[in-house]
Amino acid sequence: MGSSSQMRKMSLFPLLSLLIFTSIFLLLSLSRKASFSSSSSSSSSSQSGHHVFQPKDRSGSCNYSDGQWIYDPNFTFHQRYDSTCKEIFKGWNCLLNRKSNAPHIPKWRWKPNTCHLQPFDPLTFLHTFRHTNIGFVGDSLNRNMFVSLFCTLKHVSKEVKKWRPAGADRGFTFLQYNLTIAYHRTNLLARYGRWSADANGGELEALGYKEGYRVDVDVPEGTWAKATSFHDILIFNTGHWWWAPSKFDPIKSPMLFFEKDQPVIPPVPPDVGLNEVLKHMIHFVDKTARSGVIKIFRTQSPRHFEGGDWDQGGSCQRQQPLSPEHVEELFSLKNNGTNVEERLVNQHLYEALKGSDFSILDISRMSEFRADAHPSTAGGKKHDDCMHWCLPGLTDSWNDLLVTHLNDIMVKN
Ligand SMILES: *[C@@H]1O[C@H](CO)[C@@H](O)[C@H](O)[C@H]1NC(C)=O
Ligand SMILES: *[C@@H]1O[C@H](CO)[C@@H](O)[C@H](O)[C@H]1NC(C)=O
Ligand SMILES: *[C@@H]1O[C@H](CO)[C@@H](O)[C@H](O)[C@H]1NC(C)=O
Ligand SMILES: *[C@@H]1O[C@H](CO)[C@@H](O)[C@H](O)[C@H]1NC(C)=O
Repeated sequence: MGSSSQMRKMSLFPLLSLLIFTSIFLLLSLSRKASFSSSSSSSSSSQSGHHVFQPKDRSGSCNYSDGQWIYDPNFTFHQRYDSTCKEIFKGWNCLLNRKSNAPHIPKWRWKPNTCHLQPFDPLTFLHTFRHTNIGFVGDSLNRNMFVSLFCTLKHVSKEVKKWRPAGADRGFTFLQYNLTIAYHRTNLLARYGRWSADANGGELEALGYKEGYRVDVDVPEGTWAKATSFHDILIFNTGHWWWAPSKFDPIKSPMLFFEKDQPVIPPVPPDVGLNEVLKHMIHFVDKTARSGVIKIFRTQSPRHFEGGDWDQGGSCQRQQPLSPEHVEELFSLKNNGTNVEERLVNQHLYEALKGSDFSILDISRMSEFRADAHPSTAGGKKHDDCMHWCLPGLTDSWNDLLVTHLNDIMVKN
């Protein structure tokens, strides 16, 4: 897996962390949500002082995942922010690292077939979401998206306080607007840690297990357990780490699932564990978030290793987005290629979120095309980074989609 050694490195460096998001908005289910308390977007403070939201009526909806990338040299994405934004992790700063196509990456514009996706206006956003806390909860891909949002806002509003709200890895308050955005780092959502056989024996020991990772399917990782009561808008992801055999080696260091403090016997494979974790974490969020909180799950971000996985010399050398045919070749479940986990993860997500009041931010389809938009050899690692995204770049479009989505469910006075 391309991601795993990158992730292993990241776990060594606290500066590196993880981020999340997805692409189809279940707008209808959101606009039906009764839990959105009423409040205007201009006054907008409940008794608790928190900003609350209410959906507006939607007439007609657009499938934002159904579209194509169009090269537009005049596109303004490059003006959102530039390589001087300090929050950009070094390996993602493709302009600074002189990736040859870096200046072109933000000039590709996603064009849904039946509507437009506009670059969001940061000043309007700051104004609309003042007195609001927004939390990104997940792996480094959600951090990538968080950084894009931060840099876009910082470009127009310089006064920020850097701090770590509610256990966050990093966070900022835009002081003029009292808008806080934070990134809560968590790889599996659930709490996990090293496990070794107990000399006194036990059920896992009896089955021959010696080393592994204990994953508590019903316990949220401490980095975000308090995020649900702090934020007004939550954006979750998880995915890459579930298919990361270099860390969670099925033989040498398997994931060992625990529920209610007891090992799950017989032990189950990661894909089954993922279902359990999703179920419990969705329940936890529902239980602990205030009513009116907007809960979003981002779909899986695709990788683009070609010619082998990350540890087999795989690379992503393309200068342009893929054709639809090539996308199928790379990602179809039928072909079971190197990067197939993206669609597999999504199957688990959609199943787990069925019937919940999370909305789904589907970034998968639009991202599948963007084999050109990874740091690749400019990522500064021994192998190509075909997992994270150059900044500025693709996750700017994810945020356009997010903001479109949020605006759709805001009251319009
Ligand atoms: C939206 O478009 C994508 C891509 O064409 C398609 O896979 C998906 O099924 C569509 N979603 C809906 C709800 O029609
Ligand atoms: C881009 O802008 C320039 C100057 O305004 C204009 O001449 C050119 O036709 C534009 N190109 C496209 C593709 O819109
Ligand atoms: C800032 O926003 C937070 C979160 O909504 C709220 O609790 C707090 O009262 C606000 N502070 C001010 C000074 O308005
Ligand atoms: C897909 O490929 C992987 C590794 O190449 C293999 O281990 C797995 O069994 C394959 N899965 C299916 C369903 O063919």
